[in-house]
Amino acid sequence: MKEQSLLLIKPNAVRNKHIGHIVTILEENDFHFCALKIFRFDRQLGELFYAEHKGRAFFENLLSFMISDDTVAIIVEKDNAVQELREIIGDVDPEKRKPGTIRALYAEGITENAVHASDSITSAIREIGIIFDKQTN
Ligand code: CMP
Repeated sequence: MKEQSLLLIKPNAVRNKHIGHIVTILEENDFHFCALKIFRFDRQLGELFYAEHKGRAFFENLLSFMISDDTVAIIVEKDNAVQELREIIGDVDPEKRKPGTIRALYAEGITENAVHASDSITSAIREIGIIFDKQTN
């Protein structure tokens, strides 16, 4: 079944000029692009987007990283998009990242991990709504 998911290319990957290669990886894996934009998180948007992590030890560090430079957001569509995108980006935990995944290629730590992808269809709907200003619940 066709699904949508949200990919963020995070500030460290933008700074290090990896947008092009990350987009190529998505194209080579047959993801259809529905929308794409470049923007900069501010604190308020970061707190909303990452609300589930508020109170965690890494939260402040995550926010200051996310507002440090531009982010590219892409709505992708494909059968089983949520799970496939999670596989392509690789694990949050550096020890568990498979070679060839986007994070294995471009992450610079657990926080500066190059990309984010929605972890469920529900999260994708919520995150797309926040970043692309659509109706959310
Ligand atoms: P992301 O997939 O965007 O989701 C939450 C983000 O928090 C994660 O990627 C990392 O950038 C950051 N983060 C930092 N430390 C941790 C941690 N210990 N566990 C999970 N996420 C972390």
